[in-house]
Amino acid sequence: MDLERILNLNQFEAHAREQMEPDAFAYYCGGAGDEITVRWNLDAWNRFSLQPRVFVDISSVDTSSSMLGTPVSMPVGFAPTALHKLAHPDGELASARATGQAGALICLSTLSTYSIEEVAKSGGGPRWFQLYVHKEHELAIELVQRAVASGYSGIVVTADLPVPGYRERELAHDLTVPEDASPANFPNTATEEEFNDYLDHLHDRSMTWDDLTWIREAASDVPVIVKGILTEEDAVLATEHGAAGIIVSNHGGRQLDRSPAPIDVLEAIVQATAGDCEVFLDGGVRRGIDVITALALGAQGVFVGRPLLYALAAAGEPGVGRALELLRAEIDNAMTLLGVARVDAITRAHIRQS
Ligand SMILES: Cc1cc2nc3c(=O)[nH]c(=O)nc-3n(C[C@H](O)[C@H](O)[C@H](O)COP(=O)(O)O)c2cc1C
Repeated sequence: MDLERILNLNQFEAHAREQMEPDAFAYYCGGAGDEITVRWNLDAWNRFSLQPRVFVDISSVDTSSSMLGTPVSMPVGFAPTALHKLAHPDGELASARATGQAGALICLSTLSTYSIEEVAKSGGGPRWFQLYVHKEHELAIELVQRAVASGYSGIVVTADLPVPGYRERELAHDLTVPEDASPANFPNTATEEEFNDYLDHLHDRSMTWDDLTWIREAASDVPVIVKGILTEEDAVLATEHGAAGIIVSNHGGRQLDRSPAPIDVLEAIVQATAGDCEVFLDGGVRRGIDVITALALGAQGVFVGRPLLYALAAAGEPGVGRALELLRAEIDNAMTLLGVARVDAITRAHIRQS
């Protein structure tokens, strides 16, 4: 495909739909229930207008930033997403390389189809690791320790998936994961029975805030980030329990339908945490102006899920590279027109809520 003809992130979806098996595409695109939250995630941005300032010296605009101490070319990461081989045989290796090449950060899912170590050796850039907490905590600790040993610079604990949401598209299509696209991180899962047993126990429903203690210990000096926060109360609890960062997220609308769009609750959460941790956001980020809106409301950075998966399905590593290049160019252009030369010069005064 001619990637030069793709002009924005939304355009990858139609190509992905053509390339992918229908059940795998339904798994990627679907959300929970009536997919109200999926739609809110996309629509909520339109309630914010941008307030451009003029005659500011923007002869050189710099989109670079940092995410918990990791320098990045733009404050954007590839959200942790399972099973990249459903999109492309090069899976997370391609995703990590393209993201690294763009100077951005990738968060590898527990359910990745290349292992923690394989992705670390792939020649990509900065990496965080996302953890689903197995009922047998020893198994979760092992994953964290492997990520730390392989140079991952953040451990993202996903808090909003004690059980999967009620995802009707997935149920209707009954996803079968081909053997060569199964998760790669799990030990002692040689037989199908052992493997299914592992997956059945992957989510510890009894988790409470105190469990962050042993996860932080396993992570040693690597910062722990809690993903799936939607209230001020939980944001404060996360910082009280030692989280260095939180990701305001509703899991891309895949968990509790009618939970709010992250951008609608971001500002209150940033104010509640009062600078005690870095606040990130994901859900519906599709445009450079979305990134700027999130930063203006106090986010340190954002993550993008589906559009990058679609770019991977459409054209592998170059596809993800093209998507990130487009996003960086959009951020650069919007900063220039907004009259801000540096990311940390974007303030609340640059947006208005209608
Ligand atoms: C196909 C797919 C798989 C996902 N897998 C995971 C996962 O393994 N771990 C996790 O924490 N979040 C997972 N997520 C949620 C994303 O990290 C992120 O919250 C969401 O995709 C952001 O919304 P967006 O897709 O609108 O950008 C997944 C999302 C999708 C679409």
